[in-house]
Amino acid sequence: MAWSLRQLIESRLGDQYRLHEQYLNPSLVRVQGIIGFDKIYTRGEGAYLWDGDGTRYLDLLTGFSVFNFGRAHPAIKQAIQELLELDRPNLIKMDCPLLAGLLAEDLARRMPGGLDAVFFANSGADSVDSALKFARAFTRRHRVTYLEHAFHGLTLGTLGINGGEDFRKGFEPLLPGAEAVPMNDLDALDRQLRQGDVAAFTVEPIQGKGVYIPADDYLPGAQRLCRKYGTLLICDEVQVGMGRTGRFLCSEHWGLEPDIVTLSKSLGGGYVPVSATITRRKIHDAIFSRLEKCQVHSTTFGQNELAMAAGLASLHVLDEERLVERSAAMGEKLLKGLTALQDRYEMIAGVRGKGLMIGIEFQAPRSLALRAAWTAAEAAQKGLFAQFVVMALMRDHHILTQVAGPDVNIIKFLPPLIIGDEEVTTILAAMEQVMAEAAEVRGRVWAQSVELVKHALSR
Ligand SMILES: Cc1ncc(COP(=O)(O)O)c(C=O)c1O
Repeated sequence: MAWSLRQLIESRLGDQYRLHEQYLNPSLVRVQGIIGFDKIYTRGEGAYLWDGDGTRYLDLLTGFSVFNFGRAHPAIKQAIQELLELDRPNLIKMDCPLLAGLLAEDLARRMPGGLDAVFFANSGADSVDSALKFARAFTRRHRVTYLEHAFHGLTLGTLGINGGEDFRKGFEPLLPGAEAVPMNDLDALDRQLRQGDVAAFTVEPIQGKGVYIPADDYLPGAQRLCRKYGTLLICDEVQVGMGRTGRFLCSEHWGLEPDIVTLSKSLGGGYVPVSATITRRKIHDAIFSRLEKCQVHSTTFGQNELAMAAGLASLHVLDEERLVERSAAMGEKLLKGLTALQDRYEMIAGVRGKGLMIGIEFQAPRSLALRAAWTAAEAAQKGLFAQFVVMALMRDHHILTQVAGPDVNIIKFLPPLIIGDEEVTTILAAMEQVMAEAAEVRGRVWAQSVELVKHALSR
């Protein structure tokens, strides 16, 4: 009998948590069980996932912003199917593949400041590692500066510019001479850069961990300092690019002209891993400086046809469906609705975001009984209340979302850019109900806390 993937999936459906427990990451399996995320999804389409019982889930996690176009987008799927039908010669390596040229051309046309040289790789961290190499080669300096709370990936290179102690601990020594500065402190950045040995200042225009948005004058000021001291400005748009924040690049909100831009996640349309590091020709050529160095930086699967086809189709969909504009419009509605909730529920400390990247921060309640519950949760593990909210949204409203980072009472919404009024209404109604329940110490939001606090204390 011919081997069939469909039959394999059907015959083994339900085995996944056991298999992951045995062969992959059992800690993650446990966490998913504890927070009630151990579902068996069988289908994904648009903004939704379905489990085997036919229950529908609204996806505000989008694979950490991989599914800006929603799941199983027909145009992207068709491009991939067409490519497979064409049996095109892929990864010859000693040729110049057409699709890579076309995708590079399309990306370059969307870049500010004439960035027109592209390097393709496979992941967000890959693209940032590449950016750091370009910066070092061009400036002939070795140090890099980054922001506190930054997240640029978890390879050994990018860990060196990770602003989270939890991620770094146990893997040092990391990049020598890499130093973090606080966001919105231009003097601190000046003190770093004026030493004249900093190759690059790497920044997420809006930070993914915590959804921290810089003050209006910070990034333009940082760019001025970079120019003054000959440091390259790297804008890591891996999460915030591709229309996520209501502009194609998030850095457009501040009119920035970065020296290097990184993109990944949604560039593969939710189907294929791909990343791009986009820079100026002079910077690009600093690595490939002589003919014998033409492959001194490369990766086997970079420029592969599946990824390039998915990238071209994704950019087409972004334009065709005006998803950048939609992200801005829907984001504004969602932000407005959530901000109105803040007026009614004291535990919402703040709502912030641009386009469809939104963070909601929580704070301790004033009432004595609630405050005791909050303090117990915080003592067990910082940021636990945000996890309660994530759990309640899943359990009672079938909404997938996430805490915005370790040890913070912030949740993050990253819906697909295709959402409409229906989804905005659903999200607001769900948040209203969860916050109303959280205002009752005997409400379900707190009831689930006992179990979670127990697990946190047993860590
Ligand atoms: C801003 C940013 N840069 C880089 C990365 C790393 O991407 P990857 O996980 O594909 O290596 C991420 C991942 O979340 C990210 O958010």
